[in-house]
Amino acid sequence: MRGTRPELVKQSYSAYFNRDIPREDAVLTHVGPGKPAGELLRRYWQPIAYSRELKDLPIRRRIMGEDLVVFRDGRGKVGLLELHCSHRGTSLEYGRIEERGIRCCYHGWQFDVDGRILDTPLEPADSTLKDRFFHGAYLVQERGGIVWGYLGPPDKVPDLPALDLLAFPGYTLEPGELTGAPNFRPCNWLQVVDNYVDPQHEEYLHALHSGVQFVARNGKFVEELKIIGEAEYVETPTGILTLEMRRLDDETVWVRNIEYIWPNIATLGLLPQWPPRFGPRDTELHDFPITMVWAVPTDDTNTMEMSFVLTPLGEENPRTKHKMPALVANGPGRPYEDMQRMPGDFEAQVGQRPIAVHAREHLGSVDRGVAMMRKGIREAIEEVQEGRDPVNVFRDGRTVATYGGDTALRLEAAAKAADDKRLMRRAGREMAQRYIKTPPHLHRLKSRPAKAVTAE
Ligand code: FES
Ligand SMILES: [Fe+2]
Repeated sequence: MRGTRPELVKQSYSAYFNRDIPREDAVLTHVGPGKPAGELLRRYWQPIAYSRELKDLPIRRRIMGEDLVVFRDGRGKVGLLELHCSHRGTSLEYGRIEERGIRCCYHGWQFDVDGRILDTPLEPADSTLKDRFFHGAYLVQERGGIVWGYLGPPDKVPDLPALDLLAFPGYTLEPGELTGAPNFRPCNWLQVVDNYVDPQHEEYLHALHSGVQFVARNGKFVEELKIIGEAEYVETPTGILTLEMRRLDDETVWVRNIEYIWPNIATLGLLPQWPPRFGPRDTELHDFPITMVWAVPTDDTNTMEMSFVLTPLGEENPRTKHKMPALVANGPGRPYEDMQRMPGDFEAQVGQRPIAVHAREHLGSVDRGVAMMRKGIREAIEEVQEGRDPVNVFRDGRTVATYGGDTALRLEAAAKAADDKRLMRRAGREMAQRYIKTPPHLHRLKSRPAKAVTAE
């Protein structure tokens, strides 16, 4: 029936002929060991825990279909080990953290953070069993309050992500969700990344459908989110800028610029407070983005979002200061009626099935970013399969520029609506090109603090 389906669904009342659901795109969505997207994602350091999560008990964590345990031992070293003990498989989440490594609860085998077996207390003193092999361990680094794990081939280790925003003087990185913990979402990783390159869902889902779900730094709802904008998508050296231009008044345009970085990262702003505070000669005010987020696959049907908020030293986390409805609706556990009446990103993405079926989609102009992203992921997968380093793998110690954040542009409106749309799109594209030439955050790192867009 599949071959005839497109014709049949042109009839009304034809669901009967539409019941054959095609399979998901396994190349882009499956993340287990040896799977194409899984091997791509394993070429990058991934954030696997917040440093503050590592206390006196080990944490069980599933990453890309692999069951692991993460802990900090008495020396302060972090281990990322296979969950199941090399002896007879007991889960090390029930083990005890030692001065050096972790000890299994069942027969006391002790493993160092690098997988060395340090002790097998029930074996004879002269046993060499523990010296004959290693327990599985992955490389770990800690930076910026983030525990990074590398699950890829040991001879292909890249630099840690060195995004300019990850080490910004005067700021700390705080967790980006209200819970202060990773955000677990029961759907495939690509649905979460699809959302990063889909700026126009913001006005529909987060404003027109569910009521305005975003607040500015002053805690006020950003009603301007309801304005339907004009979208543009611009490739950068490291990803895609998704630009949404909304006209605020006759001389001001808001450019919402959510940046996607290959393969599973986004940077985005907390929404500014409008109207902008232009100085007499200002034509453009760029607001500092505050959030970076990674979509780290748990397995094919679950994803862990790790988000980080740039927080000025000594100040309260700006993401949790005012309880933003979009964040409330970002995770699991809400009453079902709330989920139905005021859905957010969680419902939108999880509602696409555990793994979205691309063969059943009908992409339109709103999906240009999605199409660009998926095409690029496919190319990066091919690069790995052909034995090359994929995009954004660096080993030269460089700082990587980011470009996201909201901008207010002083731009006089054209008389006709259609001309104004063109004008806004061009202004957005030109702004993006300026940023690519002079990255705003890297530039700020090297020079002086930028002005805030609006009064605080
Ligand atoms: S199963 Fe871990 S020590 Fe026996
Ligand atoms: Fe969203």
